[in-house]
Amino acid sequence: IRDDPASVGTYIGDYIAKRINDFKPTPERPFVLGLPTGSSPIPTYKHLIGLHKAGKISFENVVTFNMDEYVGLPQDHSESYHTFMFREFFSHIDIPPKNVHILNGNAVDLIGECKAYEQAIKDAGGIELFLGGIGEDGHIAFNEPGSSLTSRTRIKTLAYDTIQANARFFGNDISKVPRMALTVGVQTVMDSREVVVVVTGLRKALALSKAIEEGVNHLWTLSALQLHPWALIVADEDATNEL
Ligand code: GLP
Repeated sequence: IRDDPASVGTYIGDYIAKRINDFKPTPERPFVLGLPTGSSPIPTYKHLIGLHKAGKISFENVVTFNMDEYVGLPQDHSESYHTFMFREFFSHIDIPPKNVHILNGNAVDLIGECKAYEQAIKDAGGIELFLGGIGEDGHIAFNEPGSSLTSRTRIKTLAYDTIQANARFFGNDISKVPRMALTVGVQTVMDSREVVVVVTGLRKALALSKAIEEGVNHLWTLSALQLHPWALIVADEDATNEL
């Protein structure tokens, strides 16, 4: 637990940089990092960019897989997760573009796209560390309430609460928010060797208490982490309000 979102970002940024540096990645053995979008990880990305500019971390031998992407939103739309990731992170670090993987929500064959993504993660040797955020309804990636805890990358219809919560990025116009997304599954996240989740703000307090103080269940999908051997939740004071 840290005081505020900025301190959470500093903590996670330092933590990830140390994990990558200790791993000593090479082109033959890259560090495979899972990444989220949303406002919660922005302080982490800012801190990692600062560490990179100070010469303390290189992403040259890091391979990334993003958690999710909207279906049907043009890739160059200002709110696509593709645009978000380059704007907030990738454009400011030395990661080779070929090392970046983001689901294509405009693929002609969406099911094939999801299968290929799972295969690409496998081919990369699995995810070493998956950084995640959560929605107010406790979803990790876009694994909405009711998602199977053994789910893999697939198409998901967004819950009304999520559409409402994300309307703020679409001029508060609910009709402009995509209705579907491609997302890694709960099992995809659980398969990574380590999971780190950022949870900040009062809006997330109920989800955090449901996920860690109640049983493992498919209505608050973050709760699956209780079964993970190496999981870390980094929260600010506000997010712990219901604990
Ligand atoms: C979306 C993303 C999630 C993210 C969530 C929270 O629903 N699919 O991966 O965790 O937003 O966003 P924020 O951090 O802005 O609250």
